[in-house]
Amino acid sequence: MTALPEDFRWGAATASYQIEGGTDLDGRGTSIWDTFAATPGKVVNMENGSVACDHYHRYPEDIKLMKDLGIQTYRFSFAWPRMFPTGDSRREQRGFDFYKRVINELLENGIEPFATLYHWDLPQTLQDKGGWANRDIVNTFADYAGVMAEEFGDVVKMWSTLNEPWCTSWLGYGVGVHAPGVKDLDHAISAAHHTALAHAEATRAMRSVRSDLKVGIVLNMSNYRVDDESNSELVELADLLDANINRWWTDAMTTGHYPEVLQPYYGKTLDRILLPGDEQLLKIDADFVGINYYSDSFVATPRPEDKPMSEGGLHPFPQRSNGTPPQPLTDMGWPITPEGIHDLVLRVAKDWPSIPEIMITENGAAYPEEPNEDGEVEDYRRVDYLTRHLEALSRAIEEGAPVTRYYAWSLLDNYEWAEGYAKRFGLIHVDFNTQARTPKLSAKTYATIIETNGESLKAVSV
Ligand code: NOJ
Repeated sequence: MTALPEDFRWGAATASYQIEGGTDLDGRGTSIWDTFAATPGKVVNMENGSVACDHYHRYPEDIKLMKDLGIQTYRFSFAWPRMFPTGDSRREQRGFDFYKRVINELLENGIEPFATLYHWDLPQTLQDKGGWANRDIVNTFADYAGVMAEEFGDVVKMWSTLNEPWCTSWLGYGVGVHAPGVKDLDHAISAAHHTALAHAEATRAMRSVRSDLKVGIVLNMSNYRVDDESNSELVELADLLDANINRWWTDAMTTGHYPEVLQPYYGKTLDRILLPGDEQLLKIDADFVGINYYSDSFVATPRPEDKPMSEGGLHPFPQRSNGTPPQPLTDMGWPITPEGIHDLVLRVAKDWPSIPEIMITENGAAYPEEPNEDGEVEDYRRVDYLTRHLEALSRAIEEGAPVTRYYAWSLLDNYEWAEGYAKRFGLIHVDFNTQARTPKLSAKTYATIIETNGESLKAVSV
């Protein structure tokens, strides 16, 4: 392995609802996550983001911690309801002012801001009109994107429109385990179409305001592994899952079409919601695609007890259960598959050659380590996860994958959505009683990787 390209950039990522707190401050409107978390049975211990990491007040300290680690670029998200509390044209200046303060602080510390327009905290008023299942959201989102480019585009040049629209669509509107908690196949397919349209229209809106912005989308992608390639039922199932999660948004933006193989499952809804001209609208040149990579997926033959989506299962396809992933698992129950990041970025480069640049916009692992008696957080398993993924990624870059950046998930332990605060992904430990921050061993390891631009990974045994 050689060192990474000289202009490779190292970052860390967070999202507004997961870290900010201050949900009732300075005129912020209600988001769907406030509503969802207040609904019994939705989130572990009914935990919510009202305090979270108190980043709303502590952002100078958090930015200082980033600077100390040598982090070069920070991926954060704007909370839409801070600036547009009612989801219409009414603005809340104090919301804009908060992000101006954060961005100024970043710039003063030499850290490049990378903004995400939507990381799941939709204004509740928009959900009251159907949210992502209602096509009106496409123009509303594009209007929001245009204003944000006007307000922040002079200093923020790196933008992503949507974070993981698959999760928005399928977890939010299909299975209902994320806000807004809708369980309806028709709404999920509609949301998947409207997010794809919204990405394209928002990109156009932003480019019409400023031509010097880099705009992309952030997708959660995975490799679907099949134990037995000779089992055609499994191979077909893996292909459907791949189409549903990996190809939907990338095919839409590069070709204007959704994967044909999904037609038998989504056709009735698609025939109704696809309007003449959508093909042209969906097609948009991206400046980059951001990939959030956590683990590979293992497809197995469905067992009789696996539930279909109508009964709470995960997919509209033939029922399936998880295959046999390698052990051990992380605290989320996810397998550790570093080779997957290597294979995935090379696959994206090969299958969608018109995408000029790939970034790893999230990668990380949940482990529960707490400070020991000396105050150190010895998260050796996270160190191992991080270094092995980066070693595999650097090999893929050497083999020609156009990956330009890496963002660790996450800067801080934070609110892990329906899992509440128990799942810790941070490089920096947060004591949620005192709000004390403690950089973990993984943070120190990452600082060395950054300082040596990946040279220190040479010591990693594969
Ligand atoms: C992806 C999401 O973007 C982020 O919000 C979440 O915390 C991580 N995955 C870990 O589950």
